[in-house]
Amino acid sequence: MQREKWASRLGLILAMAGNAVGLGNFLRFPTQAAQNGGGVFMIPYMISMLLIAIPLMWVEWGIGRYGGIKGHGTTPAIFPLLWKHPLSKYVGVLGLFVPFVVVCYYMYIESWTLGYAIMSVTGMLPAPSSHMVGSEAYLKPFQDMLNAYTGMGKGDIYQPSAMAYGIFVLTVFLNILILIKGISGGIEKLAKLAMPSLFAMALILMIRVLTLETPQGSAIDGLNFLWSPDWTQLSNPRVWLAAAGQVFFTLSLGFGAIITYASYLKKNDDIVISGLSASALNELAEVILGGSIAIPAAAAFFGILAAQNIAASGAFNLAFVSLPAIFANIPFGQLFGFLWFTLLFFAGLTSSVAITQPIIAFLEDEFKLSRTVAVISTMSVLFAVAQVPIFLGSALDEMDFWAGTFFVVIFALVEILIFFWAFGSRKAWKEINRGAIVKVPRFFFPVMKFITPVFLSVILLWWIFDVLPDYLKNGNWTVWIAREVLVGIAFFLGLLVYISQKKNRRRR
Ligand code: PHE
Repeated sequence: MQREKWASRLGLILAMAGNAVGLGNFLRFPTQAAQNGGGVFMIPYMISMLLIAIPLMWVEWGIGRYGGIKGHGTTPAIFPLLWKHPLSKYVGVLGLFVPFVVVCYYMYIESWTLGYAIMSVTGMLPAPSSHMVGSEAYLKPFQDMLNAYTGMGKGDIYQPSAMAYGIFVLTVFLNILILIKGISGGIEKLAKLAMPSLFAMALILMIRVLTLETPQGSAIDGLNFLWSPDWTQLSNPRVWLAAAGQVFFTLSLGFGAIITYASYLKKNDDIVISGLSASALNELAEVILGGSIAIPAAAAFFGILAAQNIAASGAFNLAFVSLPAIFANIPFGQLFGFLWFTLLFFAGLTSSVAITQPIIAFLEDEFKLSRTVAVISTMSVLFAVAQVPIFLGSALDEMDFWAGTFFVVIFALVEILIFFWAFGSRKAWKEINRGAIVKVPRFFFPVMKFITPVFLSVILLWWIFDVLPDYLKNGNWTVWIAREVLVGIAFFLGLLVYISQKKNRRRR
């Protein structure tokens, strides 16, 4: 069976950008930046970008294209080609585990943005009177609304509203519709439509926000906060961890999602410039657009201190509480609210299909299932597992901590070690540069071979010794159930990998 291919280079770049540009750019980035001192954050962010993200991005594109030529799009099958060791396929399970766990909660949050987009246009969001702006009471109805919608925050078992649940089902359905049409017919077409609209919406919102001025402050205060570096904070490990974590998340690195997308490249397709272009689009969406909407809007409306507090209380408060509260009090606010949530929904949708695709590709490539069967089975299991973060208290954060933060770094380290050390640095370097009009600058060779792995190991050790012990102490029964579910998923995927390998050996 011939593997699918991207139809055009533009489509590929937009799909890869769609993969990377997600809720992370518009929600996670501004919150992380604000929680870590604003301008302080940007220095480790840029350094991590240069020393971790860009090298890893080429590594993932390289691994993916290499695997694709040999008929495989996921790491349980690709790692054994690069590293002949009986363990390599099981290490590769990470490339299924991480994206699968993440998508089980990511798609739920994505569905909120669709729900809120609908509530914005239909005028279902609260509309408190303007003289209350600036007081605590002004935000309260929006906070109550979010609590009622998600049912979160009350006890160990959440009770989402019927609307939240219904819209989640709809979101799953929309994802199925796209995935079932395949790479060029579904994902690429979606990206060509959604990405230009996303940039246009973000631009309109940015212009609107940057011209906001109220007695409490102006949007420019927010920008100043984000862009005034404080060099003294460079020695704070938490800021480094946060910055490196954000860089991973936003560029979808260490999730296996880029590898799978890259496996649909042709043998001599360029990856050096294409990879860089997709990443540049992501950074444009993150630091320019993402950085100029939520925080500056909150700074203009509530003052910079309050904006920092809102951001400190989490990304959901910023997106679903303070922004609708702002839009409730500007002309055409309903329309801007709709734009904001539609923007988030498009960002989420082009990412959720990317995080789901590895599992689908695994079933297609290794079990020779048809696309329809692969999509339906993946989505059914996804839907079942998603009940855990929907109903179980703190499960979402727990899944995000392990799959979205911890194992991502481990997986990234494994990838680069397998490609540059087990497979061989010369071969890896040649593999990345094949078909490239402009080669990767020589500077990156020692970076990929030594600096990135060392940098990643330091982060990991820091994490294990500094963050993990505290973390493991906490956790009520719901968190333990979530942990057991994660272990169950890991075993299940490991078993699938074992079976697929047995089967394929017999076939050969
Ligand atoms: N990069 C996406 C974001 O910023 C999240 C994502 C991670 C998407 C991994 C695909 C794979 O939201």
